[in-house]
Amino acid sequence: MSAAGKRPTGARSEPQASEVGDAGKRPKGARSEPQASEVDVETIGEDVPLLEGIRTARAIRRLRPDPVPPELIRKVCEAGTFAPSGGNRQPWVFVAVTEAERRAWVAERYRKVFHQYIAPALEAAKAPDFPDAKRRNMRAALHLADHLHEAPVLLFVAGWKRRGETQVQALFPCIQNVLLACRAVGLGASLTTLHLSFAEELDPYLGLPPEQPSCAMLPIGWPLGKHGRPPRRSVDECLHWERFQ
Ligand SMILES: Cc1cc2nc3c(=O)[nH]c(=O)nc-3n(C[C@H](O)[C@H](O)[C@H](O)COP(=O)(O)O)c2cc1C
Repeated sequence: MSAAGKRPTGARSEPQASEVGDAGKRPKGARSEPQASEVDVETIGEDVPLLEGIRTARAIRRLRPDPVPPELIRKVCEAGTFAPSGGNRQPWVFVAVTEAERRAWVAERYRKVFHQYIAPALEAAKAPDFPDAKRRNMRAALHLADHLHEAPVLLFVAGWKRRGETQVQALFPCIQNVLLACRAVGLGASLTTLHLSFAEELDPYLGLPPEQPSCAMLPIGWPLGKHGRPPRRSVDECLHWERFQ
């Protein structure tokens, strides 16, 4: 299917000035006003070295509301389709929600669930010795929950069940590829799964049949602000040779 085949009715095929942002291509010191010509969907992100992209991909939860060209969403989903899957069954399907009313429908439910989920952690974070990194992470997650309706694309990844079981193991490599592709093209994205607590209502809303339930929701948009390398444990703490010690 072509990019146009899945584009929402009325969507533009030419990116507008307002659609382009920190797309990773702007030279240092360049003006901040983006130009439509800066998004060349074919070439954007193709020059990011793989390992550098992996090391600098992280949850970007502060997003600008500017729309993202549908062709770019198609491009990051295409990266997802190159993931491995059992028997190469490729069980994934993507549903990109872009209409403001539909995003608000999802956001309203997500926000409610998230606030319940985060309440104990917010309480714990009042302790003076609560780690700063955790506090920052929580604030970003809270920001996403409160601004989810502003994210221009809510990308759902769903997939065929097998023998009655959801094939999450087949979907997460695909999801990670999409996240890495977002990193490459300069889009902000994060992996969320809290929508699963209202999936009974959500999946039918997305038109997903019971045999192809949703697995993850990736809010995608142009990042607000700059993002560094994510904090991670050293590999030397995780890697063991011959036996775990
Ligand atoms: C299976 C899974 C589910 C997640 N669900 C959510 C979620 O519902 N909401 C959210 O804000 N972040 C969610 N995250 C994102 C993590 O919180 C995020 O990867 C973590 O904060 C690390 O962020 P960093 O890469 O910027 O360091 C999820 C991550 C994974 C792996």
